[in-house]
Amino acid sequence: FGSLNASASGIGTTISTEKESVDLDWDSLGFGLVHTDYMYTMKCSRGESFCEGELVPFGNIEISPSAGVLNYGQGLFEGLKAYRKADGNILLFRPQENGTRMMMGAERMCMPSPSVAQFVEAVKATVLANERWIPPPGKGSLYIRPLLMGSGSVLGLAPAPEYTFLIYVSPVGNYFKEGLSPINLIVETEMHRATPGGTGGVKTIGNYAAVLKAQSAAKAKGYSDVLYLDSVHKKYLEEVSSCNVFVVKGNIISTPAIKGTILPGITRKSIIDVALTQGFQVEEKAVTVDELLDADEVFCTGTAVVVSPVGSITYLGKSVSYGSSGVGLVSQQLYTALTQLQMGLTEDKMGWVVEL
Ligand code: COI
Repeated sequence: FGSLNASASGIGTTISTEKESVDLDWDSLGFGLVHTDYMYTMKCSRGESFCEGELVPFGNIEISPSAGVLNYGQGLFEGLKAYRKADGNILLFRPQENGTRMMMGAERMCMPSPSVAQFVEAVKATVLANERWIPPPGKGSLYIRPLLMGSGSVLGLAPAPEYTFLIYVSPVGNYFKEGLSPINLIVETEMHRATPGGTGGVKTIGNYAAVLKAQSAAKAKGYSDVLYLDSVHKKYLEEVSSCNVFVVKGNIISTPAIKGTILPGITRKSIIDVALTQGFQVEEKAVTVDELLDADEVFCTGTAVVVSPVGSITYLGKSVSYGSSGVGLVSQQLYTALTQLQMGLTEDKMGWVVEL
C-alpha cells in the first residue's frame, strides 16, 4: 500500500492506494462500469466558485428528489482516458480540453464550473487514487467520467441553488461489441439529436437521453448505432449517438463543421490535426448524405469509440458498404497514429499528452 497525499492540489485528503494491478480479466473488458476504489466530489452554491474537493470511497450519492439535475436535466458530463505505459507511468490525453469544454457547457446550462486547473488536478488525483484499476499496456484504458450537476433542490423551473462536480473512473476496453471491426450504421430520417439554438454543441446529459429511442430501435434491427441528420434540411450529416463522423474520398477527409448542433469532440479535433500532419486535406463543412454514400471510407471518432471504422451505412432502406472487408486504410492509419500517441508509443510533437 502506498499513501497519496493529495493536499498539494488543494484536495486535502490522505488516502491509501495500492499500486499493484487488481486481479481482473483484462482481456474481456468491454465498455461497462467496473467499480473502483475512489471518486472525487466538490460542491458549491449558485453564484459562488468551486473551491475544495475531496476523494471519497466510490459509492452511491445522496441527492434530493427535487435536485435540478433530476427534475430539469441541469447536468453535463465529460469523458477522457488514462493509459498505462510499459514503464508503469500513466498518461492522460489533453485533459485541459475537457476542462475547457466543461466550462463552456456550464455557461450554456447556467451552472458554475471548476476552473480548468481545478478540473485537471481533480482528474489527476482521481486517476492516481485508482491507479491499480488502470489496465496493463495494450489491454485498454481507465475511462474517466467527470459530471457537473445541479444537485440543489428546485421546484419551479430555475437554476439549482447548489452544484456538485464529481469524477468516477472505470477500466474499459472497446466501446462497440464489434471491437475494432467495422460497425454498421443506419441514417435516422425522422428523429433528430439537436436543433439550431439548442444544446447539441455542449455535453449536456439530455442530448444522450434524446437519442436512446432511435438507438434502441437501430440496435434491435442489428445495427451498431445511428447517424443523425440536421433537423432543418434533413440532408446534412450531424453525428452518431456517441461520436463524430468523418468521410474519406481520395486524399480529402471531410467532417461536419461545428455550428452549435454538433459536439466539438476532442478526438475529432485531434484526428483533424493528425490527418493534416499526415498529408491529408481536411474539410470541416456541411457534408451531405450523398457524399457519405459516395465515400471511399467512413469512420467515427470519440473518446470512448477512439477511431471506429464504418463497414456499411443504411439510408432509406438501401445499404452501401465500404471496402471489401476489414478496416479501411485511412481509418487504420489514423487510428494507429492517434493511439500510439495516447499510449506514449510515439513522440508527442503536439504536446498533447500529460504524464502523471
Ligand atoms: C465519450 O466518448 O467519452 C462520450 O462521452 C460518449 C459516451 C456516450 C460514452
